[in-house]
Amino acid sequence: MEKIIIAIDGYSSCGKSTTAKGVAASLGYAYIDTGAMYRAVTLYFHEKHISLTDPSDIEKALSEINIEFRRNKFGENQVHLNGLNVENEIRKLYVANKVSDVSAIAAVRVALVDQQRKMGQKRGVVMDGRDIASVVFPDAELKVFMTADSTIRAQRRQIELMAKGEMISFEEIIANIEKRDKIDTTRKESPLIQVEDAEIVDTSHMTLDEQIEMVTIMAELTMSKR
Ligand code: DC
Repeated sequence: MEKIIIAIDGYSSCGKSTTAKGVAASLGYAYIDTGAMYRAVTLYFHEKHISLTDPSDIEKALSEINIEFRRNKFGENQVHLNGLNVENEIRKLYVANKVSDVSAIAAVRVALVDQQRKMGQKRGVVMDGRDIASVVFPDAELKVFMTADSTIRAQRRQIELMAKGEMISFEEIIANIEKRDKIDTTRKESPLIQVEDAEIVDTSHMTLDEQIEMVTIMAELTMSKR
């Protein structure tokens, strides 16, 4: 069967990544977590104290950054920053708190979108992010827009962080989520939008298995109609 591109966009902590990963595994597709790429750039900017208002500093930093996905022994794609596995570090709250500001910078987006298009060239990918259907692959055969109630998203994120040893209050987490939603949807550069031909999946009352099953069925239906 001809391989397609599956674009999954939506708010943070809706289960986008886990769904995308599960769909990719069930279809034998590659999974690209574009949020991890923006987080890796944010981590680099943080470590090198890059000023977010200095274009030449930003350009220089971007030219020094190499981001790639490498499979670990479980077959999962892990993001590497200049050869170092940063999969855990980029999930920490200090990175999450800065990533919306970094991903609002046009030069950062140009660099990463270019790389993402190359990664999807051969199709057969599930890519998740905020601008996949609107900017990166407007011709994706299946476009999914994921959403969920912000209280439920905050609860999920709190459990995720606790599992990684970070005890953060619910108030702090929901504030981070709502702040990121606002920046992501109102920024000038590629704001998060729901494109007209997207399938909406509200995950507020769905389990991860149900989300994966639903999007996998959508993908199979899309392929069967081609
Ligand atoms: O999906 P995530 O929470 O890991 O994404 C981290 C941040 O990166 C999020 O605040 C928005 C930004 N992002 C983006 O602007 N464009 C993408 N394609 C993916 C993520």
